[in-house]
Amino acid sequence: MKKRVYSGIRATGRLHLGNYLGAVKGMLAVQEQYDCVFAVVDLHTITVPYDPKTLSQSVREIILDYLAAGLDPEKCLLEIQSRVPQHTELAYLLSTIYQVARLEDLPTYKEKKAQYPQYVNMGLLFYPVLMAADIMLYKGDFVPVGIDQEPHLEVTREIARKFNQMFGPTFPEPVRFKTPGEYVPSLAGSGKMSKSIEGSFINLTDDLETIKKRLASAPTDSGTAGGALPKEGGVANLFKMLQLFRADDVYKKYEQDYIAGKIRYSDLKHDLADVIFTELQPFQQRRKEFENNPKRVDEILEKSNEACRKEAEETMGEVRAKMGLV
Ligand code: TYM
Repeated sequence: MKKRVYSGIRATGRLHLGNYLGAVKGMLAVQEQYDCVFAVVDLHTITVPYDPKTLSQSVREIILDYLAAGLDPEKCLLEIQSRVPQHTELAYLLSTIYQVARLEDLPTYKEKKAQYPQYVNMGLLFYPVLMAADIMLYKGDFVPVGIDQEPHLEVTREIARKFNQMFGPTFPEPVRFKTPGEYVPSLAGSGKMSKSIEGSFINLTDDLETIKKRLASAPTDSGTAGGALPKEGGVANLFKMLQLFRADDVYKKYEQDYIAGKIRYSDLKHDLADVIFTELQPFQQRRKEFENNPKRVDEILEKSNEACRKEAEETMGEVRAKMGLV
């Protein structure tokens, strides 16, 4: 049997380079060989404050980003999580076999609690159980996601193991499908690229001017120190971006300038912007084509979600029977 893959992205805005290199590149690689479902996880999106008036448009933007990036509806299914109600049913059933204390201890839950102290809702605590259900609904073996999702995948494996012990072998224990961009650094100098940190990201839909502007405010140093390249901080992150975009010649040139203590960061940023934009340009052209053809996108979604519901219902039939809910 073909291996199965599931991955999802929240509808919190346009995709940035972190999402692209950490997740979407992995999705593009696996769609060629495995049975894949790639989702916009709108039920996860609503666990933090959001605007119900713009949610469906935000979901649509991610779908357009997926299609423009090259996810091919002939090769994979594109799912909108809330259109497949089996996700929430499976999440509830799985929640009955997992301990609350473990969820309270997860770093992502603690971060969100600190970020939104007035909005510590049940959905937030439930988040990893719903994510486990997402993957398990399709019996996922591989999950193309960035390294930040590893704690959630550990929970998924624990839940799958527990279910199999209690009710008989049913689910694989999924593993992360890794990409070279599993951790894309922030442009703000420290931490990872993230939508919620202003100045940290470049969107896939940014034009050359915007990319240049965003890079211009990335921190560097005086450029006269020389010596070996730093391992962390703003300068290290700019070099990491060159590496992630496989701009080896540009990397070598500026590495030599750095070692010699005569690097000009404005030139490096200019060349990096060009390298990034060159990769994004075909994406942006394809995106326009899909934007101009909403009917085609609706058809893809209709067909894909119908197929997802069918597959999901097969798993649910098996799960309900095994849990004695017949
Ligand atoms: P989300 O929406 O935060 O991020 C989407 C994907 O982008 C990756 N990513 C990064 N990768 C590398 N470097 C970065 N700076 C960076 N920033 C984001 C994330 O690792 C992720 O792959 N919990 C998930 C959504 C989810 C899901 C699922 C994923 C819900 N159910 C089932 C896989 C399978 C999340 O919040 O991703």
